[in-house]
Amino acid sequence: MSILIVYDSIFGNTGQIARAMAEALAQTGPVKLASVQEARDLDPSRYNLLIIGSPTRGFRPTPEIQEFACRSDLPKTAAVFDTRINLDTINPAPLRWVVQAGGYAAERLHRELADQGCTVIGPPGEFVVEGQEGPLREGELERAADWARGIAAQAKTAD
Ligand SMILES: Cc1cc2nc3c(=O)[nH]c(=O)nc-3n(C[C@H](O)[C@H](O)[C@H](O)COP(=O)(O)O)c2cc1C
Repeated sequence: MSILIVYDSIFGNTGQIARAMAEALAQTGPVKLASVQEARDLDPSRYNLLIIGSPTRGFRPTPEIQEFACRSDLPKTAAVFDTRINLDTINPAPLRWVVQAGGYAAERLHRELADQGCTVIGPPGEFVVEGQEGPLREGELERAADWARGIAAQAKTAD
């Protein structure tokens, strides 16, 4: 089973998460890691599984990732992840509710891909950054590697 990981990243945190996933999955089979810019020149339909991730910005994925998720040549099976701010670092506290209620990139990506007929395996990966620019919360790279292994195992059974 071949896997394509596509991500966007403004400050580098989502990129680090995607890299940790790629390194974990490279032990099990062929994996291609591509930023959303690099992925424009790829043929995603050549892969069995797409793992796609974005920073949450304004409750949604970046426009570049949203555009990629609308392509008509994506693999039939996908999994989604995002990075998001640590709610505890948001002040004043009522703003935390607004951020949480606004929603996150992964759930929007899930909806977008499912609407196109993609089988989205999950749970969505949700990884936390401290403040707007990071760094990643401690342990998130290990969690990302574990999440990716779980997704790959799920995809293999679904194959
Ligand atoms: C303009 C802007 C909007 C953001 N909006 C949200 C948001 O709606 N929800 C959230 O949890 N985090 C939000 N964040 C925090 C981002 O999720 C965080 O910057 C991102 O996860 C870092 O990933 P990156 O280093 O890959 O860019 C926002 C950050 C910026 C700069």
